Amino acid sequence: MEKGALLYEGKAKKVFATDEAEYYWVDYKDDATAFNGEKKGQILDKGMVNNQLSALFFREMEKAGVPTHFVELLGERQMLVRRLRMIPLEVVVRNVVAGSLAQRVGTEEGYRLPQAVVELYYKDDALGDPLVNESHIQAMGWAGAATVKRIQEMALAVNRVLSGIMDKAGIELVDFKLEFGFAGDTILLGDEISPDTCRFWDKETREKLDKDRFRRDLGQVEEAYLEVYRRVKEVLPQ
Ligand code: C5P
Repeated sequence: MEKGALLYEGKAKKVFATDEAEYYWVDYKDDATAFNGEKKGQILDKGMVNNQLSALFFREMEKAGVPTHFVELLGERQMLVRRLRMIPLEVVVRNVVAGSLAQRVGTEEGYRLPQAVVELYYKDDALGDPLVNESHIQAMGWAGAATVKRIQEMALAVNRVLSGIMDKAGIELVDFKLEFGFAGDTILLGDEISPDTCRFWDKETREKLDKDRFRRDLGQVEEAYLEVYRRVKEVLPQ
């Protein structure tokens, strides 16, 4: 597979064309941003960890019947993915109150929800990715009702699979964000699944093992990412 022109550079990844129109080459970067790009930094080895972890998780999703854009690893920090027409939504699933939900509902971080909460955000940096509902999404033409239903179902399926894996790794899956897109008429899970896009807490101590260490200046950021990678590798033998 030949790497082609740079098509898009995001906050954490670069996307390149390949010699086949249906596939993109993705490079994972060590660059880290938070608060919609206001805070910037680098997390050593983050590109490698997020690429490798995403590959491990995507393979498990495929095995469990959740189709993804992942095709194969191309290197330590590179993967080949299917080209998608992205749905402009971020889907957040929450098992424990944290982050923006703690603020929105005035509940302390750490409250375990009796059932998973699924939230939809309109993906738009200029607007700061606002929380929206299905009525907004349909009225604005961002996605149809059947598409929203499907991505909600897929997000809950990811929650079941990922919670199981993380539990074996001694990690509580607090919440995470997913993005989806169309390959033809089929909706695939896109983007990444990593400590950048999930909240992972140690099951025993509830120590944060994710990007909140960077967002909140808690220190030991690299160590946390590597610890998650080490534990997940242990429970998902190749
Ligand atoms: O900030 P908030 O509590 O809404 O985040 C919920 C989850 O979604 C967290 O795991 C966070 O890392 C992830 N997220 C993300 N990208 C965003 C917003 C949230 O990966 N743009």
